[in-house]
This record gives sequence, structure tokens and C-alpha cells, in this order.
Amino acid sequence: MIQEPAFEVRDHVRSSQVDDLVRMYRSEWWSSDRSRADVERMLPATDLLYAIVERDSDALVAFARVLTDRRYLAVVLDVIVAAEYRGRGLGRLLIESVCSDPALRDVASIELVCQPELMPFYRKWGFSERVGRSRLMRRTADPLLTDAAAR
Ligand SMILES: CC(C)(COP(=O)(O)OP(=O)(O)OC[C@H]1O[C@@H](n2cnc3c(N)ncnc32)[C@H](O)[C@@H]1OP(=O)(O)O)[C@@H](O)C(=O)NCCC(=O)NCCS
Repeated sequence: MIQEPAFEVRDHVRSSQVDDLVRMYRSEWWSSDRSRADVERMLPATDLLYAIVERDSDALVAFARVLTDRRYLAVVLDVIVAAEYRGRGLGRLLIESVCSDPALRDVASIELVCQPELMPFYRKWGFSERVGRSRLMRRTADPLLTDAAAR
């Protein structure tokens, strides 16, 4: 008998899974203050969602999202695997789902921002820190994203 895979990638987050996502956000330094109300507002406004769900429990266990114009640029955001599910290939499944998404086939650049220790992870899929003379600039009201937050 062929076994069903334990996880599946979906393009949406059910309302019963929003608490799982808020829990994942609250565990990460850049999203620790996100509320359920704001996450519910963000989800339908996001272009592409990658929600990895455990089939048995229907729990959301990994997540990423993309903002894109579908031709020139796509920006990958909020790549998170729930802590207890790390090291089992779900991060790979998330990034491969983004990079192979037909919706992004014609996009010239896929970009993301990460901490230096995650650069070896993203390099596996061709992401490079060779960005010419470009530098990230940010206009933000979010104190978690400034130098004061020491990340
Ligand atoms: C980074 C993260 C998504 C990786 O998820 P994961 O499910 O543990 O990753 P996988 O098990 O799929 O690993 C895939 C490959 O990446 C490697 N890898 C995993 N984490 C890595 C890291 N932090 N640095 C370098 N390589 C890493 C694995 O060794 C594996 O390599 P291999 O397939 O060549 O053997 C996960 O650790 C996470 O959610 N971290 C906290 C949130 C975060 O910082 N997200 C990134 C925001 S930019």
C-alpha cells in the first residue's frame, strides 16, 4: 500500500489554523507582538500563501508568504517552521514550493531579508548575497525591526 505523505502544502490558512500561525509568529523575534486580529487582516491581503499542514491533526506546522507583481519582483516573508517540526525537511518543502510556484515562473527576482546565520540555508536554492551596491533601507514604525532590537 502506498502511504499518504504526512504533510501537505496549501495555498490558504483556515480560520481554525490562525491560532497556530499566531503561535509561530509569537515565537520569532521579528513577529513576537503580532495579534490574531492583525494576522487575520494580513492573510487575505497577501498575494501567495504557503501553509504546510499535518494531515492527521490538520494543524498548521510551517508557513511562508510572498508579495509579488508576478513579473519583476517577489518578496518572501515570514518563513517559519514550528519549533518541534524543524530538521525534518519542512523548511526545504516551503522554499521549494515558493521557487517552483507557477505563479512566480515569470518573476525576474525573488528576494528576501534574513539574518547572516540563515544565508547558508537560502543559498541552497540559489539565493545570493551578491546584490551589487544595493543596501536594504527601511522606513518602519516597528521597534522589532530596528537596531535597538539588536537583531
Ligand atoms: C530556518 C527554518 C525555516 C529551517 O526549517 P527546517 O524545517 O528546520 O529546515 P529543513 O529540515 O527543511 O532543512 C533543509 C536544509 O537546510 C539546512 N538548514 C536548516 N536550518 C538551517 C540553518 N539555520 N542554517 C543553515 N542550514 C540550515 C538543513 O541542514 C537541510 O540541509 P540538507 O537538506 O542539505 O541536509 C527553521 O529553522 C525556522 O523556522 N527557523 C526560525 C524562523 C526563522 O528564522 N526563519 C527564517 C526567517 S528569514
